[in-house]
Amino acid sequence: MQEKLHSSYKKFSTGFPVPYLGLGLALLLVAFLPQASSCSEQERSSLLQFLVGLSQDGGLDGTVTDVSVTSKSLEGQISASLGMLRGLLRLNLSHNLLSGGLPLELMSSNSIIVLDVSFNRLDGEVHELPPSTPSRPLQVLNISTNLFTGQFPSTTWEVMNSLVVLNASNNSFTGQIPNHLCSS
Ligand SMILES: *[C@@H]1O[C@H](CO)[C@@H](O)[C@H](O)[C@H]1NC(C)=O
Ligand SMILES: *[C@@H]1O[C@H](CO)[C@@H](O)[C@H](O)[C@H]1NC(C)=O
Ligand SMILES: *[C@@H]1O[C@H](CO)[C@@H](O)[C@H](O)[C@H]1NC(C)=O
Ligand SMILES: *[C@@H]1O[C@H](CO)[C@@H](O)[C@H](O)[C@H]1NC(C)=O
Repeated sequence: MQEKLHSSYKKFSTGFPVPYLGLGLALLLVAFLPQASSCSEQERSSLLQFLVGLSQDGGLDGTVTDVSVTSKSLEGQISASLGMLRGLLRLNLSHNLLSGGLPLELMSSNSIIVLDVSFNRLDGEVHELPPSTPSRPLQVLNISTNLFTGQFPSTTWEVMNSLVVLNASNNSFTGQIPNHLCSS
C-alpha cells in the first residue's frame, strides 16, 4: 500500500528523478543552508513562494510529495517554509547535523504522513498541539537520536490519531509517557 502510493507520485530526492523538480531541490537546499548561501531571506521566501505556486498548478504536474535529503551533513535549522509545500507526504532529513527546533508547521502539517528527522541535533521541546487541532494524518514520526528536552507532549498525540510508529528514543525527555499514547 505504501509502495503503491509512493510510486504513483513524482519523487523529489537527491537523485533528481524528475528534471524540473531539480530546481525545487536546489531551492530547498538554499533554504537549509542560510549561513552558507548568499541568498537573502526575501529571495529565499520568493523562491519558495514560486515553488508553492507551481505545486498548485495542476497543468505543470509538479507537486512535491517527497523530500529526502539524508546523510548530507546539512547544518542549520529546518525551515518552517517546508510546511508551505501543501502536497508534501514524506519528509526525510535523517542523519544530518540540523539544529534548532522541529517547526510547528511540520508537526501540524495536514499532508505529511512520514516525518523522519532522526540522527540530528534538534533540540528544544516537541510542540504541544492544542486539543482543538483537527486530526492530523501523520503515521510515522521518527525523532530519535536528537537533543530534544522537556516534557513529552500529551495532547499532541490525541490529534495524531493516524500515528502507527513513533520513535522518540535517545533524547532527553523528562516526565511521563502520556497514557492515551497507547490507547489510540
Ligand atoms: C530515511 O532515510 C534513511 C536513509 O536513507 C533510511 O534509512 C530511512 O529508512 C528513511 N526513513 C523512512 C521513514 O523511510
Ligand atoms: C525512523 O523510524 C522509522 C519507523 O520505525 C523507520 O522506518 C526509519 O527507517 C527510521 N529512520 C532511520 C534513519 O533509521
Ligand atoms: C529507534 O531509533 C533508534 C536510533 O535512534 C534505534 O536504535 C532503535 O532501534 C529504534 N527503535 C525501534 C523500535 O525501531
Ligand atoms: C544515541 O545518541 C548518541 C549521540 O547523542 C549516539 O552517539 C548514539 O549512537 C545513539 N544511540 C543509538 C542507539 O542510536
